[in-house]
Amino acid sequence: MRVVDAFREMYGGEPAGVWHAPGRVNLIGEHTDYNDGFVLPFAVPYGVTVAVSPREDDTIRIASLQAPGEPHVMADVDQAEGWVRYPVGVFWVMRGDGLPVRGADIVVDGDVPEGAGLSSSAALEVSVALALNDLYGLGLEPMRLAKISQRAENDFVGMPCGIMDQAASALSRAGHALFLDCRSLASRAIPLDLEKHGLRLLIINTGVRHELADGQYAKRRQDCENAAKHLGVPALRDVTDLAAALERLTGNERKRTQHVVTENHRVEALIGLLRAGAVQEIGAILNASHISLRDQFEVSCPELDVAVEASIRGGARGARMTGGGFGGSAITLVAEDRVDRVRAKVLEAYEERGWAAPTFLSTTCAAGAHRLS
Ligand code: GLA
Repeated sequence: MRVVDAFREMYGGEPAGVWHAPGRVNLIGEHTDYNDGFVLPFAVPYGVTVAVSPREDDTIRIASLQAPGEPHVMADVDQAEGWVRYPVGVFWVMRGDGLPVRGADIVVDGDVPEGAGLSSSAALEVSVALALNDLYGLGLEPMRLAKISQRAENDFVGMPCGIMDQAASALSRAGHALFLDCRSLASRAIPLDLEKHGLRLLIINTGVRHELADGQYAKRRQDCENAAKHLGVPALRDVTDLAAALERLTGNERKRTQHVVTENHRVEALIGLLRAGAVQEIGAILNASHISLRDQFEVSCPELDVAVEASIRGGARGARMTGGGFGGSAITLVAEDRVDRVRAKVLEAYEERGWAAPTFLSTTCAAGAHRLS
């Protein structure tokens, strides 16, 4: 394994172990996690692998095969800068919780395309959290590792994300999507075998990430919290009568509420179809989700809209943006024999606009975080 070779070269000696955590796509349930709602992501066969050894002092040394150079060496977590803040944040949260976590030597290797909205940061956090859990004998459950990783990102990195990405990375099972109730944190593995139904799920990486992504994410969260406050409910999850709620709201709060409430219903509807074995039918729900994210939640962008519309023109069953939005990736559900046509339509639509070609990744439902050696 090249991460082990790099570890030997960088630090001398063998790593104590190697761990892997995947990125994710979200099938349905977008911008619902921080509204205590429902999500249905699954792990992708791309992720982060870390080779790690514990240390007898509190120093953290960390290097990445994707960022060549000397390892970052930090006697104190406050010295962490740039991408290193994600893994170091995990140490910071664990130590803050009083867990017996000392230093470590780490080499990171990843193949989640950066900026594609496939949660490379969650994969990085969760792989390190799992490694520390094993090396320091912490005995923590996967959901606790996900929550620690989320807090690293919220409180150390400063990105106010929900729990979906870290939970998907930590808890997913191969061949299944992960249904998660983001209030109770109860989860269920939902079998998802697209190939059996002659279908493929393609990830279309637009290759763009608009600058406003992070600031707008925080604003959407704020809109949702304001709307819930106006309605006198703990979270938008608790809105049962949508028509009555919409009458009491205006502007952004009204639009965001419309999206979140209907999106939660779409998650349940999609799971109902899967349970009935009607996988072919889920495309319409993906399309409805995209339109709602575009028009009500306002987190799409021209590159995502064109990817979705061109796939549908090429004969896809359904398509939508996935993840936070403002760039990143779309997913498209396509019958096997239409994959080439869909791909051609999307490429053509980008070319017509003079945009750089997007990239396509095929995906299956991969396993969640685990130890490799
Ligand atoms: C990002 C966040 C998640 C979630 C999605 C939108 O991926 O990290 O917590 O809010 O956006 O569904």
